[in-house]
Amino acid sequence: MINAFFASEVVRVSRLFSQDLSIDPTKLIFQPFWETQRVKNFDCGVIELNDFLNTDEVEQYQKNKLGQTTLVYYEGEVVGYYTLSNDGLRIDYVKTTKGFSKLGEMRINQIPGIKIGRLAIDNKWQARGIGRSLIQRIAMKGFDTDHYGDVACRLLIVEAKEQAFNFYKKAGFQFTYKSRKEKSKLKHRGTRTMFFDLWELDYLKSIR
Ligand SMILES: CC(C)(COP(=O)(O)OP(=O)(O)OC[C@H]1O[C@@H](n2cnc3c(N)ncnc32)[C@H](O)[C@@H]1OP(=O)(O)O)[C@@H](O)C(=O)NCCC(=O)NCCS
Repeated sequence: MINAFFASEVVRVSRLFSQDLSIDPTKLIFQPFWETQRVKNFDCGVIELNDFLNTDEVEQYQKNKLGQTTLVYYEGEVVGYYTLSNDGLRIDYVKTTKGFSKLGEMRINQIPGIKIGRLAIDNKWQARGIGRSLIQRIAMKGFDTDHYGDVACRLLIVEAKEQAFNFYKKAGFQFTYKSRKEKSKLKHRGTRTMFFDLWELDYLKSIR
């Protein structure tokens, strides 16, 4: 029997998998970025995210093992990219969230997760469901230890830009506790930390 809390969580998280795509997601091709590769003319409308890919910044991240970038192709064109690394979220940021309060009683400082350092879709390809397909793919990586190796991973973590808050909310992400630091980030940088609890996918699987 599903209680009210889990029922609402299931509805929220199921949204990640229900969408009307105007592309064929089986035709998306994922390629790890290699160091000497050059991508030109990528434009997602956010200068910082364009520059990351159009300059050698992406290469520096790759070389120094600070972030692994994956290029996403559709019909031979780079339509998007994402950059991932390992991260963790301090327990105080989530312990007021249902499902985490018990963990707050354990002697742990951080909840392990995958950090989505960057995620962007080219202007021409936005609003066709590609962004959400990428979140699905990243979530399945973290959820499935066969893909991620024998490493525990509970969260997807993102430092979301204000303009993308609703995109992440629609994909099932939540804001962390609004600490003083979070308030200051929102005011000065227009970003907030958001997370997706991969344990909810486990729960979804168990009731299918
Ligand atoms: C934000 C971004 C990644 C979304 O990717 P996308 O492929 O355009 O999004 P999708 O088509 O998969 O949209 C999925 C859902 O989110 C909604 N959505 C997408 N972008 C949104 C936004 N900026 N604000 C509110 N809702 C948004 C869509 O309407 C859709 O909702 P629906 O399921 O009700 O139809 C993309 O628009 C982008 O690269 N923007 C510029 C860079 C950026 O802001 N990156 C995020 C950095 S944190």
